[in-house]
Amino acid sequence: MDNQEIIDQLTKVCICKGVSRQTIKKAISEGADTVEKVWSKTNTGNGSCKGKRCGEKIQQILDQWNKGQ
Ligand code: FES
Repeated sequence: MDNQEIIDQLTKVCICKGVSRQTIKKAISEGADTVEKVWSKTNTGNGSCKGKRCGEKIQQILDQWNKGQ
């Protein structure tokens, strides 16, 4: 496991559900290519903030991912 993976594991993207960036990236790697798909695949976006906090962060991760492809 490299440093980036460790950081991804420790960084919570969806605070309401306690879901890490690693889990979000895994969902993207498995084909979730929109924020809504990531939300449904990882059971996020449905916490008390209704995705207000994590939606933007997930979009940023998607943008970075698409740049790297
Ligand atoms: S941070 Fe994801 S639903 Fe609130």
